[in-house]
Amino acid sequence: MKLKILTVLALSAIMMSCGGDKPKEKAADSPAKEDMKAEVTKIDPMKDKGVGPIKSVTIGDIDDAMVANGEKIFKAKCTACHKISKRFVGPALKGITKKQTPEWIMNMILNPDVMVVENARAKELLIEYSAPMANQNLTEEEARAIYEYFRTKN
Ligand code: HEC
Repeated sequence: MKLKILTVLALSAIMMSCGGDKPKEKAADSPAKEDMKAEVTKIDPMKDKGVGPIKSVTIGDIDDAMVANGEKIFKAKCTACHKISKRFVGPALKGITKKQTPEWIMNMILNPDVMVVENARAKELLIEYSAPMANQNLTEEEARAIYEYFRTKN
């Protein structure tokens, strides 16, 4: 990662020394994005709760009724942009519960607009997918049911 930043900086320096107007603008952009990524890698995603209404979630044995409800909501509100196993408009969601905390995932569902501005990992996703995650105005209970459904998709 450091090497990448150095390369970008070196390239920027070369571009600037050429004196062209347009390359200068580009050069100003790229290192900022690289910096953001470098910052993101320092945060352990399994400790990151994100930003939003969900502060703490209790997880027990898989609740089949909740899974069924979560699957129904997911199919109605999320499949326009997400597939479980394949990248689509948004990321594939298979294995998500092994990568991010329940709080982070539920805050991403309930509060995506703030997450993509204030949370480093969400910001990084926005840059990668160049599309914002849509707020589907779910209740906390609905988001929790979707989380339960995700637990069965690892
Ligand atoms: C209009 C398209 C769209 C809809 C509808 C949508 N999402 Fe997303 N979602 C995205 C995009 C794009 C991203 C990644 C970029 C970002 O966060 O801005 C994302 C990111 C996510 C992430 C983070 C994934 C990761 O790899 O960490 C989760 C979790 C998620 N969405 C769940 C949902 C759920 C659950 C629903 C339904 C309630 C939903 N999304 C509806 C577009 C959408």
